[in-house]
This record gives sequence, structure tokens and C-alpha cells, in this order.
Amino acid sequence: MQSDTILVTGACGQIGSELVLALRKIHPNVIASDLKDPSGELKESGPFERLDVLHKPGLDALVKKHKITQIYHLAAILSATGEKNPEFAWRVNMKGLRNILDVSVDNHLSKVFFPSTIAVFGPTTPRVNTPQYTVMEPNTIYGISKQAGERWADYYYQKKGLDIRSIRYPGLISYKTKAGGGTTDYAVDIYFEAVEKKAYECFLKEDTVLPMMYMPDAIRGTIMLMETPAEKITIRSSYNFSGMSFAPKDVVVEIQKHIPDFQISYKPDFRQQIAESWPQSIDDSYAAKDWGWKPEFDLAKMTTDMLANIKKQ
Ligand code: NAD
Ligand code: SER
Repeated sequence: MQSDTILVTGACGQIGSELVLALRKIHPNVIASDLKDPSGELKESGPFERLDVLHKPGLDALVKKHKITQIYHLAAILSATGEKNPEFAWRVNMKGLRNILDVSVDNHLSKVFFPSTIAVFGPTTPRVNTPQYTVMEPNTIYGISKQAGERWADYYYQKKGLDIRSIRYPGLISYKTKAGGGTTDYAVDIYFEAVEKKAYECFLKEDTVLPMMYMPDAIRGTIMLMETPAEKITIRSSYNFSGMSFAPKDVVVEIQKHIPDFQISYKPDFRQQIAESWPQSIDDSYAAKDWGWKPEFDLAKMTTDMLANIKKQ
């Protein structure tokens, strides 16, 4: 582990800005990269390179320059932004991943992480306790691109021996970096607006249940998966991964325990249809069995921590 040099793409985003800091606590050599410049803790904590994952020669040169041995490929376009420009989302999510896979094989990387999502499921998938293996007919370009990505990941493992690992993240909630254009973003914004304005207008209906997870659990699970011995990894497409499930009205009840005069209103937009095509809860028993996954945060514990940290900021 000591000799690994890790590249993180999309490092300035909601996950990357926290994952890079966590990796730097256990690995001496972590290179953050993104299209845009880093700020704050991320900027101060170590080396950064500008990288467009669509530019394969630039990616290859960076891997060679730093003698990269592992990549966490986070750069992507999320669900809501993707629906506004499907062609662009397909290109970034698909071509970006293919470049990572090819450069990883060409440079004999030891491991690659590729994040998938609950968006790989669709309206024909069983929505409650969604199994690992089930009907998958995603109807967002984001979900289609990530499902194709899962197939590519498995293909590169089977045909080229690439040690690639993946998690289907649920909606992630965090206070360090704002969410990047997803359908689950309300569950981040609601906390900030509760503290700043004591009011929030929600773009999903009050009873829209979705799978969610607090960022500390997501980061811990990601590193657990990547540190598991290869022989224990039985899934090379992507693991179901679960934290908690709730609807906007459940978050309101929890926030009002801390901010009693918090007010919510509902104005569903195009994201409602996306949310209704996704699971409500996830069966992650393969992750539990193969690499010991167990979440630590429920809605009450997360709400206390989110509000305390946003107030501190
Ligand atoms: P984000 O939108 O916050 O960050 C993505 C980062 O990628 C941004 O900093 C952006 O500048 C960068 N980027 C975009 N195009 C790029 C390119 N061509 N080259 C290099 N960098 C580029 O996303 P996130 O929430 O941090 O998500 C990271 C990954 O996790 C994505 O693959 C996403 O699909 C997946 N995921 C996230 C969630 C979630 O709730 N946050 C849930 C499921 C899956
Ligand atoms: N949080 C992500 C989104 O809403 C799920 O992958 O797009």
C-alpha cells in the first residue's frame, strides 16, 4: 500500500473533495485532478493537476509522469444536468471511462475505482429492497451511461484482467462541497437553507422515498472496497450499497427537532419523474458478505451532524 500512487479524477466535486483528504491520511501519494481549480482544504492538502478525462493523451502523460498505480475515476455528469444535455453527458461519462480503462490497462495499473449509481435501475425494477441482480432498464441518460459503464468495467475485468471495483452510490449528503447536479441534491440543499433561511422549496414531492447515505459512510465504504483482497470481490460490474431511505417529509421532521420554525414548500419539477424511476431502498447483502459493509449513520444521526457542521461553517 505504501508504494501506491493514486490519481483521483473529478476531485473538486462533492465526493472527490472529501475522498482525496481521506486517501491522503492513509496514502502518501495522492494526486487530485479536475477540469477546474481546487479550493480550500483540498488545495492545501497536496498535489493537483488540471486534467480533462476526455483528453486521452493528457491522461496517459499524467499517469506516466506520476507513475500512477491506482485511479479513482469520479469525473462524470450527474442525472439532472445530464437530462439537459444528453449528448454531452454520454460523451463525458462514456468516453471518459473508456479513456481511464484503456490507459489503466496500457500502464498496468493495479486497481481502478469507478462509481456507479442507483440510477442504473429504472421504472421496471422492483423498487423496495432492490436486489443486486434484477431488471435494469434505466431511462435517464445518466443511468444508461452508468449501466453501460458497469458492463465495460466487467468486460475489462474479464477480458483484460483489470482489477476494477465499483459501488452503486445512493444519493450522497454532505456539508463540505455542494452537490453537483443530481436528483438527490434536495437532501443537501434542505440543510443549508434550513440554517440560512429557515425555509426551503423542495423540487420533489413530500413522499418521494429514495436511498441516501451520509458522506462519511460513503467514503469509508469506498476505501473498504478498495482495500479488500481481490479474491473476495465477487462483483465486477458494481455493488449495491445502502445507507438509509427517506422522503423529504421525513427530513423536515428531523430538522424541526433542531430548528422548530423551519418551513417547507413543495414545487416538483422534471426531477420528480427521475426520482420515481429509481429504487426506494436497496438490498446490499453482497457488499455486507464480500467486504463487511455496514452503514453507521441513520437520518437522525446525520441530521444532527449536518446541522452542527453547517452552523460551524
Ligand atoms: P460532482 O458533479 O460534484 O463532481 C464531478 C467533478 O467532475 C466536478 O468537479 C467536475 O468539474 C469534474 N469533471 C466534469 N467533467 C470532467 C472532465 N471531462 N474531466 C475532468 N473532470 C471533470 O460529482 P460527485 O457527486 O462528486 O460524483 C462523483 C462520481 O460519483 C460521479 O461519477 C457520480 O456519477 C457518482 N455518484 C455520485 C452520487 C452523489 O450523490 N454525489 C451518487 C451516485 C454516484
Ligand atoms: N445523486 C445522484 C443523482 O441524483 C445519484 O447518482 O444524480
